[in-house]
Amino acid sequence: MKTHKIAVIAGDGIGKEVMPEGLRALEAASKRFGIGLEFETFEWASCDYYAQHGKMMPDDWKAQLAGCEAIFFGAVGWPDIVPDHVSLWGSLLKFRREFDQYVNLRPVRLMPGVPCPLAGKKPGDIDFYVVRENTEGEYSAVGGRMFEGTDRELVLQEAIFTRHGTDRILKYAFELAQRRPKKHLTAATKSNGIAISMPYWDERVAAMGESYPEVRWDKYHVDILAARFVLSPERFDVVVASNLFGDILSDLGPACAGTIGIAPSANLNPERSFPSLFEPVHGSAPDIYGKNIANPIAMIWSGAMMLEFLGYTEAHDAVMAAVEHCLVNGPRTPDMGGSANTTEVGVAISERIAAAE
Ligand code: NAD
Ligand code: IPM
Ligand code: MN
Repeated sequence: MKTHKIAVIAGDGIGKEVMPEGLRALEAASKRFGIGLEFETFEWASCDYYAQHGKMMPDDWKAQLAGCEAIFFGAVGWPDIVPDHVSLWGSLLKFRREFDQYVNLRPVRLMPGVPCPLAGKKPGDIDFYVVRENTEGEYSAVGGRMFEGTDRELVLQEAIFTRHGTDRILKYAFELAQRRPKKHLTAATKSNGIAISMPYWDERVAAMGESYPEVRWDKYHVDILAARFVLSPERFDVVVASNLFGDILSDLGPACAGTIGIAPSANLNPERSFPSLFEPVHGSAPDIYGKNIANPIAMIWSGAMMLEFLGYTEAHDAVMAAVEHCLVNGPRTPDMGGSANTTEVGVAISERIAAAE
């Protein structure tokens, strides 16, 4: 049996509560389908580690992750101890960049059993992907401050759009659209206001579109695109966006489809030169941490995406069937109107995965 080495990093806050349930589901799937998963847990990439060591990760973090095919990741951030830009640039954003995980793939799907905040929508009406550029764009540490503390204070923050970085995310998104029945792609832009990078982005979208004649594509400024997510989500199939716009749209999408507590993501290095990273879209949720009431489904669904990435489609489907069964029949955590806790939901899903159908 082939063994896949997986790094497990729970991080902070509810990352530590949902991770055991993600692992429970993966273990149930690996047992049922005979998949060799070898987990190695790392306590670093957390604000607790920072409090003890003055940094988010040890200097040899890359060496410690050598041989891992994937990273199963909870959430990072505890702003009372470490400023968010320090904790995130010292961990998650470092992984995305140094491991060249340039695709952030975020499904947006109205699942059966999930109450939808948008009137009249049923499962099937909302089913699309946000493909978010994940290594450059508006997320940059290039810039600086001048004249600090004076009334001439000046802050400059650059955004970076390379041809290589722009074309590769667009190519991924067009390829994905081409494989889907609707073959439709929407590009998020803002070329009316952001006068240099976004017209460039639009140009590259149009150029890439020429290579995919079967894909119908359109583009919207991100402000009206956000409104359309709410007003007519059924018209989307694949939505490709720069780093910041993709970040915002990938919280808005899942909120339109019920709760961000179930939204998963895959940070992919499609060439597999480096490990890919699978994590919930949500963060460490300090407001609910410690009560064991976080919804573990985003973590579990991220695990399903990891199984699919490793080549185990059947195991992915079994995890998703168990998730759907739980969404329809319960138990449910409070974000979905239930009163079950994190563990109860995780155990129910794992038992369902374990039961051969
Ligand atoms: P958040 O996603 O942590 O929380 C937003 C809201 O959603 C909160 O009310 C929270 O209780 C709720 N929520 C989130 N996940 C839930 C779940 N599984 N079940 C039920 N409710 C859930 O976003 P935030 O408050 O902006 O950020 C908190 C911290 O997390 C910050 O430090 C932030 O930087 C960090 N963060 C990390 C990641 C990540 O590691 N990928 C992602 C987003 C935010
Ligand atoms: C996400 C998060 C991160 C991001 C933060 C925590 C840096 O919001 O994964 O969506 O903005 O990418
Ligand atoms: Mn986000």
